[in-house]
Amino acid sequence: MSAAKTPIFLIGATGYVGGTVLHRLLTHLSADTFEITVLVRSEEKAKKLESFGVKPVVGSTKDVVLLEGLVEQAHVVFSCADADDLPAMEAILSGLRKRHAKLGDLPILIHTSGTGELTIGQETKGMYATDTIYDDSNVEQIESLPPDAFHRNVDLAVVQADKEGYVKTYIILPSTIYGIASTPLVDAGIQNPYSIQIPALIKASLGRGHPGMVGKGAALWGSVNIDEVADLFIILFDAIVSNPESVGHGREGYYFGSSDEHAWYQISKAIGKAMVELGLSKSDEPTAFSDEELVKYFGSLWMGNYSGTNSRARANHSKAIGWKPKKGTEDLVASIKAEVEAILKQQKN
Ligand SMILES: NC(=O)c1ccc[n+]([C@@H]2O[C@H](COP(=O)([O-])OP(=O)(O)OC[C@H]3O[C@@H](n4cnc5c(N)ncnc54)[C@H](OP(=O)(O)O)[C@@H]3O)[C@@H](O)[C@H]2O)c1
Repeated sequence: MSAAKTPIFLIGATGYVGGTVLHRLLTHLSADTFEITVLVRSEEKAKKLESFGVKPVVGSTKDVVLLEGLVEQAHVVFSCADADDLPAMEAILSGLRKRHAKLGDLPILIHTSGTGELTIGQETKGMYATDTIYDDSNVEQIESLPPDAFHRNVDLAVVQADKEGYVKTYIILPSTIYGIASTPLVDAGIQNPYSIQIPALIKASLGRGHPGMVGKGAALWGSVNIDEVADLFIILFDAIVSNPESVGHGREGYYFGSSDEHAWYQISKAIGKAMVELGLSKSDEPTAFSDEELVKYFGSLWMGNYSGTNSRARANHSKAIGWKPKKGTEDLVASIKAEVEAILKQQKN
């Protein structure tokens, strides 16, 4: 008789991050010991996912009864859909609590947050860099983040659950993820291959016909390549499975996915260079977005100014468990022309 497989439940399988993580699980050395269930909103994508050997369930995280029930059946949950959906996280935690109560199992939750959490209260608007650098191995420093920081309400609920003892929790906080995801799930039309922040800056720059930035583009953020942040998910998962006692969880379970730091100006300048090369702008020198442009292209002043905040992160904890990212700002800058071309192609279709 074959040994029971590990039930894994992943949310966000059709997404940029979640799809890349799912691909890594499907190609993991122990993949044949996993039984992977995913929750997807599209019936068409669910059908396609079946051929990848996963069990798709059609539905939304807004259906908290469905979500809780699916979570209850899993020993490992990867939450890769939404860093800010507290009701969904409460349903996830409730499912994990029930599993623990019924089976005595101590399940594992790996949740995706983001280093946007480090930007709270900033009125920098791209005008200057701040000095504070956050270190994921400094528990007290992370605990000093205010409860109203971006993503923080969900992260605090996750850490509280670990404290209550019915689940072991781990939170990965990527900074700006860059690069076009390239997986068989993208090729099959299942996964979104594009990130969020850089594509938004590209679309705004294309829209105004000139590279744009918030203020002087002087604020600093961390960055990470999509494949290297997927490495972090798998290195963390492997460490938890092989040597759980050595891996920090709960209040000690924050892992930044950040490998280098850029000024926003560098990104906007690279967008400008690509626009000049493609004959879309006369100058590669970025200029500041007006408030009207921030609202028009990013949806609100707050969203627009987000790319003028500082988020300075050092991933010492992630590196301590064996994460070895090699890519840096040069790679980020080199990735931008392909992003511009991809967006132009989308806009033509
Ligand atoms: N990309 C970055 O640079 C970055 C950096 C730091 C943190 N993060 C965080 O990571 C998370 C994922 O980001 P991403 O870039 O992968 O975004 P994405 O490509 O838009 O993926 C989001 C995924 O979540 C799914 N989803 C959203 N709402 C859902 C719902 N109600 N029910 C079921 N599924 C739902 C989407 O499904 P559909 O296909 O049906 O829409 C998709 O699979 C977000 O919380 C984001 O803030 C991202």
